[in-house]
Amino acid sequence: MAQLIIKNLYHKFGATEILADINFSLAQGKVISIVGPSGSGKTTLLHLCGNLLEIVDGEVDNSFSSQAFAFQDARLLPWQTALDNIAFGLKGGGVAKKQRHKLATKMAFKLGLNNDDLAKFPKDLSGGMRQRVAFARALVIKPELMFLDEPFSALDIGLKQELQHLLMGLVVNEKLSIFFITHDLAEAIKISDEILVLDADPGRIVKQIVLDRPRESRDEDYIFNTTRQLLQDPQIISTFELNFKKK
Ligand SMILES: Nc1ncnc2c1ncn2[C@@H]1O[C@H](COP(=O)(O)OP(=O)(O)OP(=O)(O)O)[C@@H](O)[C@H]1O
Ligand SMILES: [Mg+2]
Repeated sequence: MAQLIIKNLYHKFGATEILADINFSLAQGKVISIVGPSGSGKTTLLHLCGNLLEIVDGEVDNSFSSQAFAFQDARLLPWQTALDNIAFGLKGGGVAKKQRHKLATKMAFKLGLNNDDLAKFPKDLSGGMRQRVAFARALVIKPELMFLDEPFSALDIGLKQELQHLLMGLVVNEKLSIFFITHDLAEAIKISDEILVLDADPGRIVKQIVLDRPRESRDEDYIFNTTRQLLQDPQIISTFELNFKKK
């Protein structure tokens, strides 16, 4: 079975240490979330795991056959229509143009886009639509592994839930694996099999939380109570700098 295995990963930019002693693995059909304060190295870790950044020390062993990315901003090609943006990833796979457009359209419809939207250039789409296009572009190649860097943070709650639902469907039905970065502990509790809490200077994993309860039975109460419980944990408090002094 495909997996991503990270061993003793270390990273620095110039003389500044960014990540140290990072060890974890992500198996097929699982969701791992990384939470931690701003600047703790989450995006850097994603870039290293996704082979977007050269490794300084340690190992990234990735045996998934395909991977895709979605970031906080959609990062679309401004000179191409929404349809061509979605079809773009299939070009490298040698899929003929007609078939590329067919697959891209099908995926776009699944994400709630219509033919009018598909003919538009990114500048003429709303932020939410651009993010749908970015998701369609990532999903159309049917990746085994998805790297998501706070992809929902600019979205309204309805669209966020819709996309979460779609992704969770793929995790269950297609055994998609997800490496997910979020600032939102409740969101991580909702969708993950495991949460890694990163502390800063340099970024280290200070806590590893395994969520045993099946995803489908994590109701509002469970998410609320687990979030509350975790927010009382001294390590999580210090990681999120929640230790405000009481007057
Ligand atoms: N290309 C780079 N060159 C130099 N320093 C960098 C580079 N990329 C990131 N950094 C630094 O590395 C540290 C970690 O950055 P990173 O973007 O990984 O944090 P993050 O946890 O994703 O933060 P946020 O939650 O704000 O997105 C920061 O101090 C940042 O300034
Ligand atoms: Mg980041």
